Amino acid sequence: MLFEAVSLTVLVFLIIKASQRPRNFPPGPKGIPFFGYLPFLSNGEPVYRTMKKLAKTYGPVAGFYVGPNQPFISVVGPQAVKEALHNDDLNGRPSNSVIIARTFGEKLGVVFTDGEFWREQRRFTMRQLREMGFGKTSVEYQMTDEIRDLIDEIKKQGRSNDDFIVDFKGIFVVSVVNILWAIVGGERFQRDDARFKRLLEDIDLFFRVGNPVRANFPVPVFLLRLFPGLRSYFGVQTDMFEPLQKFIKETVEQHEKSRSLDADVPRDFIDAYLDEVKQQSAKNPSTTFTYKQLVATVQDLITGGSETTANSIGFTLLYLINYPQVQHKMQEELDQVCGTALPSLALRASLPYTDAVLMEVQRMNTIAPLTAPHRATKDTKLLGYNIPKGSILSINIDSVLNDADTWKDPHCFRPERHLNVDMTKIVKNENHIPFGVGKRMCLGEPLTRNSYFLFTSALVKTFDFSAIPGQPLPTLEPVVGFTSAYDGFKAVAKPRSGIPTF
Ligand code: HEM
Repeated sequence: MLFEAVSLTVLVFLIIKASQRPRNFPPGPKGIPFFGYLPFLSNGEPVYRTMKKLAKTYGPVAGFYVGPNQPFISVVGPQAVKEALHNDDLNGRPSNSVIIARTFGEKLGVVFTDGEFWREQRRFTMRQLREMGFGKTSVEYQMTDEIRDLIDEIKKQGRSNDDFIVDFKGIFVVSVVNILWAIVGGERFQRDDARFKRLLEDIDLFFRVGNPVRANFPVPVFLLRLFPGLRSYFGVQTDMFEPLQKFIKETVEQHEKSRSLDADVPRDFIDAYLDEVKQQSAKNPSTTFTYKQLVATVQDLITGGSETTANSIGFTLLYLINYPQVQHKMQEELDQVCGTALPSLALRASLPYTDAVLMEVQRMNTIAPLTAPHRATKDTKLLGYNIPKGSILSINIDSVLNDADTWKDPHCFRPERHLNVDMTKIVKNENHIPFGVGKRMCLGEPLTRNSYFLFTSALVKTFDFSAIPGQPLPTLEPVVGFTSAYDGFKAVAKPRSGIPTF
């Protein structure tokens, strides 16, 4: 009898607590005791779409609880998203046992750290990557090598059957990672390197099975240890990182061994970071520059930079297969400006239509529909609502890139919308923010800007892409996890006459 009475009291307490909200908390659904609104956000639909629906009922800033006491804020639409991203008090990252399980159970790397630690590490990482070639034309020749290799691979596959049919699943990621890895680890991988292929598959799987809301549920570490299967329910399969971490550690060790003592110029990012570890640890024993942090940072760069750019290239080809008239117009411009050569960064300003196509694909199909989760580091305000310290924010980039007020016909694929009236120049709309904005903005944007342009324009210059005769057009619908990926597809890639000379 006593047990029943206590249980009933606890239940009533939980129900009352679940329905309570801090003062001026954003409006939102109530959910159920202990789990909050979490079960309703896992209904099979991509979370960023559910959040857009919630915005229709509750407005652009909706608040609810995930778990017994974790406030969660869904941020939708240009005004709320930009205000949130520019508010430095909302620039923290959550840190629960599921998230830090990626990085040896500690808060390490650049994506999921915050405060002074993150500022110092992000500043150093960005400076070094810029010096090593991020956003610079000096890495263009490396990109051209990778582009040639990719073109050869596509031709080889196409020639292996009579109809130039090519399987585009996973084909771009090798080239993209090779560019990144040349800057970070100074090496190039062969397409058929089995270990490398496995690492890339693991990274892809991590992003596909990820659930941006469940990953924030405050599940205790001991439960994850006792029930490893919970990791997959909560959408963070961190064991997938183990082979990648092993590979990075071995690469760091090789770097230490192979660096000659009198070499003062670092060969790549890993050398530069190791130099900093030495310098900093000599003068400051509690420095943030450590081996573990190096491994975690490289892991963040490879995971953040591999499938995002590869999927942008894949989606562009899909759109061009679905919209052949846009493909022809792009080819006309490329032929006129580049002649028989491959497109180059120097010619980019003369290729506005090509650039507009790339921008339109990034707008229509948001590779990162939600930013990585943000956290309120202080009590603060968003669109006038109180956001309590510790709230987690899910910020919806897709709702900005597809906002009806900004774009008028957001669901139409219309590259011209990014051009001036006489179609000679790009006109940048302030709501075109595929990489986010503010201090947390994507660190890889300068590299992606160049590699996405060079790869895609070279492919469109070299091949005519079309659907396989007699088969339906390949789908434009993304496979959504933490990010959006194209569904692997097969298509015809016919070398064009007057192919670029290398
Ligand atoms: C099409 C390509 C890409 C897209 C659309 C993209 C998009 C984004 C977005 C939306 C964010 C989150 C911003 C936020 O949380 O407010 C982000 C963060 C990040 N991205 Fe990218 N990204 C791309 C490519 C890359 C590449 C190539 C790299 C690595 C070289 C990279 C590394 C990172 C890192 C490290 C962060 C975390 C930054 C921080 O928290 O300070 N990304 N990216």
